[in-house]
Amino acid sequence: MIILGIETSCDETAAAIIKGENNNITVLSDIISSQIKIHQPYGGVVPELAAREHAVKVLPVIDEALTRAGIKKSTAPKKIGAIAVAAGPGLITSLLAGVETAKVLSHVWNIPLVSVNHIEGHIYANFIAQYPKLPALILTVSGGHTLLALMKSEDSIKTLGETRDDAAGEAFDKAAKLMGLGYPGGPIISKYAEKIKKTDIKLPRPMIDSPDFDFSFSGLKTAIRYELEKDGQWQKRIEEYCFEFQQAIIDVLIHKTIKAAKKYNINSIMLSGGVSANKELRRQLEQAVKQIPNSNFYVPDAKHTTDNAVMMAVSGYYKARADKFTPWQKLTVNSNLELYVLLFLMLSMAG
Ligand code: KG4
Ligand code: ZN
Repeated sequence: MIILGIETSCDETAAAIIKGENNNITVLSDIISSQIKIHQPYGGVVPELAAREHAVKVLPVIDEALTRAGIKKSTAPKKIGAIAVAAGPGLITSLLAGVETAKVLSHVWNIPLVSVNHIEGHIYANFIAQYPKLPALILTVSGGHTLLALMKSEDSIKTLGETRDDAAGEAFDKAAKLMGLGYPGGPIISKYAEKIKKTDIKLPRPMIDSPDFDFSFSGLKTAIRYELEKDGQWQKRIEEYCFEFQQAIIDVLIHKTIKAAKKYNINSIMLSGGVSANKELRRQLEQAVKQIPNSNFYVPDAKHTTDNAVMMAVSGYYKARADKFTPWQKLTVNSNLELYVLLFLMLSMAG
């Protein structure tokens, strides 16, 4: 089955075409129009600007995805088996651009529609290259979310814990802003951190020993702010601050993931979300997973860690295969969509 995926949840307008056969995925096209340059001067995403840019770019991006996949618009209704679109969580006005476009195409081309949860899309980035061995423990770390989930099957993804305040990516972005490093903060902080191997600067590891699987990163941002204020000449030790900040986040993420892996009976550990582009997190988690007997470690290709439409199309493919379609009249965006709420809705619609 051929799937058109559309993603406009935050600041990337993306469209992709994939072909799914049994448990194998072939990517036919993968187009992303990034808005990073538009938001950079503000040090973060400006929702109004993001929505305007999505409205302008969504059709050209879909057009290019079809062309690169060798699909003419006249044959699209025959060739495409389903349109998968991210319907939340995300910025409501950004989501609307993708969802309303998907609804129009579904209606005019008479192609069934699949509603995809953005976080679930990140999880399915691990299903692009291969079908991972389930049950799997999933650590999803992005600009908007940080959560640990247990995936027993395509139909059963249970959240074990999540952040109580800032997401890990948000913490990177806010810390970079404090140090005047620019946006998005994660890649910039990791570039500075790569330059050194140790430091005597100490930041806290929030909630590392809490009995649950929840996270909290806002205190870490406050802690680095105090340290910078105390150190009159922090600009001279920027690599060290970046190194310690990154390591504090990595330590907490890995500690909780390994704790969950020891508690639940799993075959794999998967990493996903924009922060999974972080080379040190990938390296250190892969190393830590070796403590868990017989478990495989999966992480998406770097280009499918941050927002993209391939992962939405893949998530959509597995839903379409299970007949979990949403009529265009019923599809609405939901900026606060939780993982379990979407699954519940889909299961009840399917049933
Ligand atoms: O998944 P994503 O593209 O968007 C959301 O769904 O939020 O994630 C974007 C986040 C940003 O906060 C960005 O700073 C972070 O991912 N990020 C990184 C790296 N690359 C992107 N964080 C740490 N290290 C990186 N290399
Ligand atoms: Zn995302």
